[in-house]
Amino acid sequence: MGRYQEMFDRSLQDPEGFWGEAAKALRWRKKWDRVLDQSRPELPQWFQGGQINTCENALDLHIESGRADQLALIWDSAVTGSVAKFTYRELRNEVALFAGALKKLGVGKGDRVVIYMPMVPQAIVAMLACARIGAVHSVVFGGFAAPELAARINHAKPKLLLWSSCGIEPGRVVPYKPMIDKALELSAHKPSACVVLQRRQHEAELVRGRDIEWGEALKGAEPAACVPLSSNDPLYILYTSGTTGQPKGIVRDNGGHAVALKWSMEFIYGARPGEAYWAASDIGWVVGHSYIVYAPLLHGCTSILYEGKPVGTPDAGAFWRVIAQHDVKTLFTAPTAFRAIKREDAPGNFIKKHEPKLRALFLAGERCDPDTLVWAQERLKIPVIDHWWQTETGWPIAANPLGLELFPIKPGSATKPMPGYDVRIVDEAASEVPKGKQGAIVIRTPLPPGCLPSLYEDPDGLNRLYLSRVPGHYLTGDGGYFDEDGYLSIMGRIDDVINVAGHRLSTGAMEEVLAAHQDVAECAVVGVDDSLKGEVPVGFVVLKAGVQREEPQICSELIQLVRERIGPVACFKTAAVVKRLPKTRSGKILRGTIRKIADGVEHKVPATIEDPAALDELTQLLQRLGYPQKKG
Ligand code: COA
Ligand code: AMP
Repeated sequence: MGRYQEMFDRSLQDPEGFWGEAAKALRWRKKWDRVLDQSRPELPQWFQGGQINTCENALDLHIESGRADQLALIWDSAVTGSVAKFTYRELRNEVALFAGALKKLGVGKGDRVVIYMPMVPQAIVAMLACARIGAVHSVVFGGFAAPELAARINHAKPKLLLWSSCGIEPGRVVPYKPMIDKALELSAHKPSACVVLQRRQHEAELVRGRDIEWGEALKGAEPAACVPLSSNDPLYILYTSGTTGQPKGIVRDNGGHAVALKWSMEFIYGARPGEAYWAASDIGWVVGHSYIVYAPLLHGCTSILYEGKPVGTPDAGAFWRVIAQHDVKTLFTAPTAFRAIKREDAPGNFIKKHEPKLRALFLAGERCDPDTLVWAQERLKIPVIDHWWQTETGWPIAANPLGLELFPIKPGSATKPMPGYDVRIVDEAASEVPKGKQGAIVIRTPLPPGCLPSLYEDPDGLNRLYLSRVPGHYLTGDGGYFDEDGYLSIMGRIDDVINVAGHRLSTGAMEEVLAAHQDVAECAVVGVDDSLKGEVPVGFVVLKAGVQREEPQICSELIQLVRERIGPVACFKTAAVVKRLPKTRSGKILRGTIRKIADGVEHKVPATIEDPAALDELTQLLQRLGYPQKKG
C-alpha cells in the first residue's frame, strides 16, 4: 500500500488520531479536550476546548525558531514597478503595531473588520493584525462594485472598514472612494470609522469624522500581543457566490484551519520551510486567504504577493520574471492565467528567457482543459497538478499529493480525494453511482478540519444549503465522476454558480440585476464556454409588452447595470433580446439546454418543452452571437 492510501484510509477510519497528530505541528496555548466534537452533527467542532492564535503560529513562532531574518513576504507590483520585502521580524512588528492601532480604535475579539484593498502588503498586515487580537476580518475583492460591498458590510456589520485610495488595473487607476461612499450610503450598517491607505497613484479626499489616514491610525499605537483564542472562534468570514444575489458568509475557525493548511503545505504542495511559494491569485478570494496569506506563513515559507496580471504587465513573461527574480519553487494559479499566457506566447519564448526553476505548478479555481495542462507541462517540464477545492473547504478536496506520493498525471482529472475527504458520486435519487458514471459530488460528513463550520449569521444555513440534500453528506455543488483508477474528474457546477476567469459568480445574482431593469419582463443568464476565461455569462431578456425602445440601447444599459451592481469582474458583456424564453410546461427555463446549445454539446430537447419554436429562435440567436465558439 502506498503512502497516500495509508494516510487516506487512516484519516477516514481514525480522524481524531490522524488530525490530532497533524495538530502537533502548531503551537497551542491550551491543548484541545477533544479532537472532534460531533455532539451537534450540524456543527462539528475541531479541536474543541483548545486555544490557539493563528497569527502567532504564522509569525511569532518562526521568529523564536530562527527565521526572524528570513523573508516572510515579497510584494512584487508589476503595475507600479515596485518590490518590497519583509522579514518575519519586520512583518511581525508591522502586524503587532497595526493590531495596536486597531485596539486603539476600539476593535477587540469578535469584532468584524471589512477590508476593501488591492494587492498591497498593508492588506496582509491588516488581516494578520485582526487574527492577532481575535477580530474577524472579511476581505472584499476589489473587482466587486459598491452594492456588493454594501451587502457584505450590511451583513458582517463591521466595527471598522479598511480601504485603500485606489486599485491599479493595467492602463487604469481605479479610485475606491466613490465605491466606498456609495456602499456606505447603501448599507444600513455604518462602521464606526474607516482607516484609509493613501496610494500615490491616486489619493482620496478623506471624509472628516469618518476616515482616518493609515499613518495617523498608527500614531501612538502600542504593539499588541497575540490573544489566545478558542480553536472554534472565527478567524474570518469570506463571502462567496451562491445561487441568489445574497452572498454566503463562509466562516473559518482558527484551530482546524491552521492544522489543515499546515498539513497541506507539506503533503499536498510538497513545499519546504524557507522556500518561496507563490499563489498568483487575489487576497479577495479563498486561494488568496489560504495560500497567499496563511498557509505559506504557517509553514515558514516566503510568500509572494503579486500585483499584476499574467499578461500585459508588461508581457506574457511576467510570471516567469517573478519566479526567477524571487526564486519561487511552487506556483499556484488558475488555468485561465495559463490560457492567457499560452495565447500570447505559444512557443514559450518567455519561459526560455527567464528560466524559471519551479518544482511544480498547481492549478485550481475552474476546470483545467487538458490542452492547457499539457502545454504547461511540456514547456515547464515539471508536474502540473490540477486540484479541486472551494471557498467552503478552504483547502484542496482532491489533488495529486506531491509531498506524499505523485501519481501519474491524467489531464482533465483532479486526481485523488485528499485525506479527510470521503468523496462520493450520487445520482438524483442520492444513490451512489458506479465508477465512470457522472453525478453530483458529495462528501460524507464530518468534513475535515479547515472546512466551514457554519455560515455567518445564518444558523441553519449549513444544513439548508449543503447538508439536507443527501443526508450525512455535504453537497459540493459540483458534478463529476471517478474513473476505474479512482481518479476524480470535476466536470462543472450543477447549480447556478459559474467560474469566470477563476472568479466564482452567481448567474442568479445577475438575473436579479437584469430583472430590475424597467423594460425587462423576464430573463435568463447562462455561463457559456470561453476560450480564455473558461466561462462567461450571457444574458437573454424578454421585454415587457409595449416597450418601444431600441434593443441595442436596452442591452447596453443591461451590461452597464451588471457592471455597476456586481462589478467589472462579472465580465457580463453580452445581452440579447428574445421574444420568449424556452421553458418546460411547468414554467422552468431551460438554462441547461441553452448552455449546451451555446457550447455545441450534444443535447436532448426535453419532452416537456412548452414551445419548441422558442428554443429554435434562441439557437439561431446564439449562432449570430458566435456560439458555439470555434475550438482551438
Ligand atoms: N479591481 C478593479 N477591477 C478589477 C479588479 C480589481 N481588483 N480585478 C479585475 N477587475 C476588472 C478588470 O479590469 C476587467 O475590467 P474590464 O472589463 O474593464 O476590462 C474585469 O474586471 C475583468 O477582469 P479579469 O477577469 O481579471 O479579466 P482581464 O481581461 O483583465 O484579465 C486574465 C484576464 C485571465 C489575465 C485574468 O483574469 C487573470 O489573471 N486571472 C487569474 C485568475 C485568478 O487570479 N483567479 C483567482 C482564483 S485562483
Ligand atoms: P471558489 O469557491 O471561488 O474557490 O470556487 C469553487 C468552485 O470552482 C468549485 O466548486 C468548482 O466549481 C470550481 N473549481 C475549483 N477548482 C476546480 C478544478 N480543479 N476543476 C474544476 N473546477 C474547479
